[in-house]
Amino acid sequence: MVTKGELLYVGKAKQVFSTDNPELLWVHYLDQATALNGKKKVIIDGKGTLNLQISGLLFKELSATGVPTHFVQDLDGQDMLVRKAKMVPLEAVLRNFASGHFVTKFNATPMMKLDPPVHEFYLKSDDLDDPFINDAQVIALGISDEETLAAMKRMTDTVNTWLSRRFAEIGITLVDFKLEFGRLADGTLVLADELSPDNMRLVDADTGLSLDKDVFRKDAGPLTPVYAEVLNRLAAHPQEV
Ligand code: C5P
Repeated sequence: MVTKGELLYVGKAKQVFSTDNPELLWVHYLDQATALNGKKKVIIDGKGTLNLQISGLLFKELSATGVPTHFVQDLDGQDMLVRKAKMVPLEAVLRNFASGHFVTKFNATPMMKLDPPVHEFYLKSDDLDDPFINDAQVIALGISDEETLAAMKRMTDTVNTWLSRRFAEIGITLVDFKLEFGRLADGTLVLADELSPDNMRLVDADTGLSLDKDVFRKDAGPLTPVYAEVLNRLAAHPQEV
């Protein structure tokens, strides 16, 4: 049994606590949704539990396929135990279809298939509004190195292949997503952060309707029924672990 310790970090959708085990952290998923880099912030009852359950289910299944992740165990309610990792301060975005900023930046046709899928990195910095950063800039600034960037892209491709198929099987198209990575004390690069509709664009393959945080971003209706729909479809068709 692990005991929750002091609050170490408060993010936009999660709080991170120490535990009595120096190798483990306690993550609490908040009932909070933010957009526009935190400028739009709303409390949404039930969101933390839904994201915890979706994230826990996907981390468990993905770990079983051999992808190294920080996931240890989901606890009751809104909490998860994860392995402590030193985070790479980058957001790794993968786009299968044009949407969001890819459309606004390049005037691309919405939902145009991107072949091959597009990798992008963003620097994690609230002060700078998480700017786009290219590989040369990452290396020149000493933020990370070439090998780590290559490993993150490889792992992102692996996650994309698995996740795209996983969602396709339940009638959902994986449009794009954001991952974060960290290194365990022994140097192993692991998938960290969360795997939830807060960080993915998902659309119903039949109707084209959004099943992710775009519903909140675009004020298109209540968020929790949409997240519950994603969870229910995943849970109804579990993958063997
Ligand atoms: O906004 P943009 O089109 O760049 O987002 C691409 C993908 O990355 C979307 O799935 C979005 O949910 C995710 N993302 C995220 N956190 C951010 C920025 C984008 O999870 N800070």
